[in-house]
Amino acid sequence: MRQSKRLLVTGGAGFIGSAFIRKALEKDSHYERVVNLDLLTYAACLESVASVESDSRYTFVHGDICNEKLVEQLCVEYEIDTIVHFAAESHVDRSIAGPRAFFETNVRGTFALLEVVRKLPCMHFHHVSTDEVYGSLGMEGCFNEDSAYAPNSPYAASKAASDHFVRAYAHTFGLSITLSHSTNNYGPFQNKEKFLPCMIYKCLEKKSLPLYGEGVNMRDWIHVEDHIDALMLIVQKGTSGSVYGIGSGNAIRNIDLLFLVIQEIAAYLGEDPKELERLISFVADRPGHDFRYAIDSSKIKNELNWEPRYSLIEGLKNTILWYSKGLYVER
Ligand SMILES: NC(=O)c1ccc[n+]([C@@H]2O[C@H](COP(=O)([O-])OP(=O)(O)OC[C@H]3O[C@@H](n4cnc5c(N)ncnc54)[C@H](O)[C@@H]3O)[C@@H](O)[C@H]2O)c1
Repeated sequence: MRQSKRLLVTGGAGFIGSAFIRKALEKDSHYERVVNLDLLTYAACLESVASVESDSRYTFVHGDICNEKLVEQLCVEYEIDTIVHFAAESHVDRSIAGPRAFFETNVRGTFALLEVVRKLPCMHFHHVSTDEVYGSLGMEGCFNEDSAYAPNSPYAASKAASDHFVRAYAHTFGLSITLSHSTNNYGPFQNKEKFLPCMIYKCLEKKSLPLYGEGVNMRDWIHVEDHIDALMLIVQKGTSGSVYGIGSGNAIRNIDLLFLVIQEIAAYLGEDPKELERLISFVADRPGHDFRYAIDSSKIKNELNWEPRYSLIEGLKNTILWYSKGLYVER
């Protein structure tokens, strides 16, 4: 068991990083220091970490992960023993419109962090990655930790490249690392540009619901708190050098997920779901749209005793309730 107590969290003002920080700073947590390094790009939301702002164990630093000097200074000043790396450009559509930022942050930024870790050999580095690096599945089967990389979007390619650097630095320089590949996350504080918050908001506001292609692409959806539980276990107990797949087994076609959202919101608003279904509009498919992602989580379940807590319906109810309370802050 690793004795991680002092964390540098990158991208901690983003959707998943902020959920990790909120959990790491719960009252009974053993963490002594959590430094959040975030560049505050368009994707950041400081409200997501407002609940920990006055915690004496928490420090926010506005800065870029590409700035090696700054990262090294923070690691030394705060006696960091573990970096948990979330910072990234994370939206596939943006990577198609403008891939350069994805190369800069996801590849060059991860490289900069690894260069710092190389100088501080007692440090553990956890790299948060995605199942999208494995490419697209047909109707059958799922990815696992040994699947071959076949990234299809510039986003996936940038995450794949960063994964390879992490692996190579561990192998060549003997760094202590863990790496995780999670499937699609959803939950509070996710940016409205992503599929589920976008659909929830548009349903609540009775606006057109744009669905790529015929809506038949399939994704496995995991509630962000389940992902965070998995990451907490990996950071503390994951075997150094190990890779973990994190999925919930909630694979569903986009159109069927939208029908579920519509049903839940119609029930919440006391309206006829058919009225909301009329708002669905099929739009030109995303170029190179992967058909299906799914990941086998048996390794983390068997090795670290992790289980997701949320069924898809419970998770959706929880998320819809959060967005419908108007807690989302425009960014
Ligand atoms: N959202 C998902 O469904 C999902 C699934 C699997 C893996 N992931 C991975 O999880 C991580 C977090 O994803 P997310 O959805 O929370 O992303 P997000 O876009 O919500 O947040 C990213 C955060 O990183 C910060 N950031 C960007 N560039 C930076 C830089 N150069 N220096 C410092 N900070 C910078 C942003 O300001 C933002 O706060 C990413 O690495 C992503 O690839 C996400």
